[in-house]
Amino acid sequence: MDSKSKALNTPELKALAEEIEVLKKEKNAVIMAHYYQRDEVQAIADFIGDSLALARMAEKTDAKVIVMCGVHFMGETAKILCPDRTVLIPDASAGCSLADSCDPVEFEKFVSQHSDHTVISYVNTSAAVKALTDIVVTSGNARKIVESLPEDEKIIFGPDHNLGEYINSVTGRSMLLWNGACHVHDRFSLQAIIDMKKEHPGAKVLVHPECRRPLQLIADKVGSTAALLDFARSDSAKEYIVVTESGILFEMRRECPEKTFLPAPAEDSECQCNECDFMKMITLRKVRDCLRDGYPEIKVDPEIAAKAVRPIERMLELS
Ligand code: 13P
Ligand code: SF4
Repeated sequence: MDSKSKALNTPELKALAEEIEVLKKEKNAVIMAHYYQRDEVQAIADFIGDSLALARMAEKTDAKVIVMCGVHFMGETAKILCPDRTVLIPDASAGCSLADSCDPVEFEKFVSQHSDHTVISYVNTSAAVKALTDIVVTSGNARKIVESLPEDEKIIFGPDHNLGEYINSVTGRSMLLWNGACHVHDRFSLQAIIDMKKEHPGAKVLVHPECRRPLQLIADKVGSTAALLDFARSDSAKEYIVVTESGILFEMRRECPEKTFLPAPAEDSECQCNECDFMKMITLRKVRDCLRDGYPEIKVDPEIAAKAVRPIERMLELS
């Protein structure tokens, strides 16, 4: 059975997938999904990618309607890049704890206290924070963009502290870091990975840079979701411990069916979950409903969008 049939494994899911196919043509819509989406949502998407690829794809698509199966900031980025398109998100309350860890009012104060600094913000931010930013980055291009700036350039990096520490360590810069974090990546446990390595000594460890520094240090590969996937595709190991949101396993297993991918558990014993509850709010039923109803739609204040588009375009030019 192929991965799409495995994901659409009930009569209800199959029927929803068929309805979505018809509605998509009727509305001239494209469905984009992040790698952390539920398997069945990835299975019906026209395009699956990391946040950089989703931004690039949104910029290029001719479709009238973009259905963003991801979290709110991904929909906002698409809307800012394509103001003339309708951007729908199947659940408008699919937020992001990392984006929420950077309040625009507080961030503006921080930026104004360091007015001689260039402001780099991770794409996991609200449009209001992007509007205060000089260059947006994703985990897929942060290193390249930071390295493209003069060595003595003073830089503020926000909101993800772990990603900032990683970029500082690989570039030798001393960027000033905002103290934000993602609740999913920040709770992976070093001890759990060490225990897993004892049971699977040949397994390579793949770590997203939003994880804490000790996990980055024991990784065979640190990278964005797309970079981890590329590594797994081209590497010769047979087994991998995957230290990021477990939705990525769908694409890893689809592309490398001969390899074994083991999801890493979270630290908190109350919550062993390595899933992003915001990403998992998007269901196939909600995708069908939003296509059918043209709602919920992403709207961005035009004044904020006009400021936020510049740093996003700068990212796309530099990466
Ligand atoms: P990527 O940029 O790797 O897609 O990550 C986005 C994200 O939300 C990670 O938690
Ligand atoms: Fe945000 Fe973390 Fe979910 Fe990514 S995994 S969307 S950073 S809350």
